[in-house]
Amino acid sequence: MPKQPLDLQRKNEHLFLAEKFYNPASTNFAEMRLLAPSIPEMRLKDVKTDVKWFNFHQNMDAPLYINAMTGGNAQVTKLNQQLAIVAQELNIPIALGSMSNYLKYPYNKEISESYQVVREYNPQGLVIANVSAKIPFKQAQKCIDLVQANALQVHINAAQEIVMAEGEDDFCWCDNLAQLLQNIEVPVIIKEVGVGMNAASVRQILQLGPVAAFDISGKGGTNFQAIENERNHHIDYSFMQDWGLTTLESLLDIVPTNLTDTLIFASGGVRSPLDVIKCLVLGAHSVGLAAPVLHELQHFGLEHTITTFKTWQHQIKEIMTLLGCQKVTDLTQVDYRLSMKLNNFIRQKNDI
Ligand code: FNR
Repeated sequence: MPKQPLDLQRKNEHLFLAEKFYNPASTNFAEMRLLAPSIPEMRLKDVKTDVKWFNFHQNMDAPLYINAMTGGNAQVTKLNQQLAIVAQELNIPIALGSMSNYLKYPYNKEISESYQVVREYNPQGLVIANVSAKIPFKQAQKCIDLVQANALQVHINAAQEIVMAEGEDDFCWCDNLAQLLQNIEVPVIIKEVGVGMNAASVRQILQLGPVAAFDISGKGGTNFQAIENERNHHIDYSFMQDWGLTTLESLLDIVPTNLTDTLIFASGGVRSPLDVIKCLVLGAHSVGLAAPVLHELQHFGLEHTITTFKTWQHQIKEIMTLLGCQKVTDLTQVDYRLSMKLNNFIRQKNDI
């Protein structure tokens, strides 16, 4: 088989290694305990899990979304088609993988199709384009137009780039981010890729323009430092696997910040409906899943994947019933306790 250029081949290697390192066990979510009422005074049939995303014309059926994974190579078209069908069946948003290969090879039909297939198989759904923080806004607009995206994710991934053998080392992104935030008309989501975000970074980015949402994508699930270390055969970066904040740590750091209209999306290591609920209790608007959907599709096929995540939707409803919460926003009223480790983590913030 002819060798592909590195930027096309990288997509396949990410998929392969994300699956190789996949861990179905939840990370540190057990460090947070929910205080459920013994008598919830709630009926399952009265519980509603729908959520509104920005000004999208219809509500999503669950506080979940399929997070950015792939595109940019003919071999992943089928996978994106299946992800689109899962999103449509569940009526939840879906984000595309980074669209930089479309911008690099705009006349390559197979590459364009690997992204367009998501709109084709989910024509009425909420689709999110994805670009890196250095892409000029006119280029980002081309990505949005290609799939008629309803929102744009801008990924910030400095730690991944440092470990990646062919990665970048210039992270002066503020000027371009300001241009993106001020000129793109669909809602813009600023997104990490598995190392979390902190309150200071959120405040810094909010200065640049209107951010519709932050996807804090914390440590604990797919670990791009580990993936890039495995791809990088020359220098050892295994010590970077522990870089960043977990999803719970990021939420605890950020949520007390006064964000007015900016939403928080939580992702990174979410592996069960109870993990989803814990993120919502801490103030996340919705919760993203990447590797768990990939894993289900690759091991069990499309029908089984749809059933699995429909079951998650139902289980989220059941947990809300146990907590006496009728709608998703009621979850922020649920009381909880944190492990000594997590408690120590926030106390250091409060002591400043
Ligand atoms: C990703 N992720 C990602 N994120 C992004 O913004 N642009 C991208 O192109 C990709 N590519 C990608 C490929 C693969 C195979 C995976 C598994 C993930 C990161 C993803 O959106 C998410 O932030 C992290 O994977 C953490 O979530 P999980 O996987 O622990 O649920």
